[in-house]
Amino acid sequence: MIAELEELQKRAETEIAGAGTEKELQEVKTRYLGRKGLLTGLLRNIANVSPNERPLFGRQSNEVKDILTGKIEAALQGIKAVEKGDTLARERVDVTLEGRRIKPGRLHPVTQVREEICSIFASFGFSVVEGPEVEQDYYNFEALNIPKDHPARDMQDTFYIEDNIVLRTHTSPVQVRTMLKQPPPVRILSPGRVYRPDSDVSHTPMFHQIEGLLVDKEVTFADLKGILTVFLQEVFGGDTLIRFRPSFFPFTEPSAEVDIQCVMCRGEGCRVCGQTGWLEILGAGMVHPEVFKNVGYDPEEYSGFAFGLGIERIAMLKYGISDIRLFFENDWRFLEQF
Ligand code: FA5
Repeated sequence: MIAELEELQKRAETEIAGAGTEKELQEVKTRYLGRKGLLTGLLRNIANVSPNERPLFGRQSNEVKDILTGKIEAALQGIKAVEKGDTLARERVDVTLEGRRIKPGRLHPVTQVREEICSIFASFGFSVVEGPEVEQDYYNFEALNIPKDHPARDMQDTFYIEDNIVLRTHTSPVQVRTMLKQPPPVRILSPGRVYRPDSDVSHTPMFHQIEGLLVDKEVTFADLKGILTVFLQEVFGGDTLIRFRPSFFPFTEPSAEVDIQCVMCRGEGCRVCGQTGWLEILGAGMVHPEVFKNVGYDPEEYSGFAFGLGIERIAMLKYGISDIRLFFENDWRFLEQF
C-alpha cells in the first residue's frame, strides 16, 4: 500500500507539472484529491493495511495530501502570473503614441453671418420670429399687395407646389403673419431659407434672407436709413461705401435698394458685380398702407419700415467670396476657412 501511495504521489506530481492551464490543474486536483479522487480512494482502503503499518500509512497519506495540495496551489499561482503577464502584454498601452486628433465641427459661414446679424439687431431691440418655408400664395404675395395678375409677380420667379401653395420667394410673408398675430408696436427679425429658380455666380435656387420689420407711431424713412447704416457699418467697418437707390416693391412705399461697394474689385467693375462696381444686398422701404389695411393696422396712426437682406450676399462681401455656389458644395477645404 505504501508503495502504491508513493507511485500515486509521483504520477500526481508529473501531472501537476504538466498542467498548462487553470482548468487542467483543477482537473488534476479533482482526480487525486476530490471526494472520489484516487488518494481519497486509497485512504478508504486503510482497513486492508496491516495494523502495524496503519499509523505510518495514515501519516504518509496526510503528508502526500499536503504536498500535492501545496504543489497544486504553487502551480496555480504560477499559471495565474503567466496569464496576467500575457494580458498585460496584450493590453499594453503605448503612452508615447500620438493621440488621435478629433476635428471639432464648426458653424457654416452662412450660420455665422446670420448669428452676427441677429445679434446686431438684438442690440436695437429686435426679436427673432420664424415662418414656414412652404407658404400660402396669400402670405407670400396677396397680403403683400401683389395680386395674382400684378406684373410685380414677375419680379420673383416662383416654385409652385400647388396653385395656391409656393416655396416662399422671400421672408416678407413673416411680416404679415406677425402683424396678424399682434398689435403694434412691432420690432422683429425673421431669418430663413427662401427659394427662386435662379442660378449663377451671385444667385442660387435656395438662399437665406433676413426680414426686418419695425412698426410704431411716427416711424420715418430717416429711422430706416439710420438703422441700416449703423448695421452695415457694424458688419463691414465704418469706412465702407454704401448707397441707397430708389427702387420699387409693391409692399413698401417709398422703396429703396441698398448696395455696397464691390469688395472683389473695389468698385472697378468685375464679373461678380456685373461690371457695375456695386453689389445689391438688401431691399427696404416704408410699409405700404395697403399692407397695413390687410393686417388690420390703421395706416393713419401707425407707420413702419421693412427690409429684406440676402445672408449669402453679405457673407460673400464680408469674406471676399466670388461665387455664391461655394456655400452649398460642402467642400471641407472651403468651409474650414471660417
Ligand atoms: C425681396 O426679396 C424683398 N422681399 C425685400 C424687401 C423686404 C423689400 C422688405 C422691402 C421690404 P429682393 O428680391 O431684392 O427683395 O431680394 C432681397 C435680397 O436677397 C437681395 O438684395 C439679394 O441680396 C438677395 N437675393 C435675391 N435673390 C437671390 C438669389 N437667387 N440668391 C442669393 N441671394 C439672392
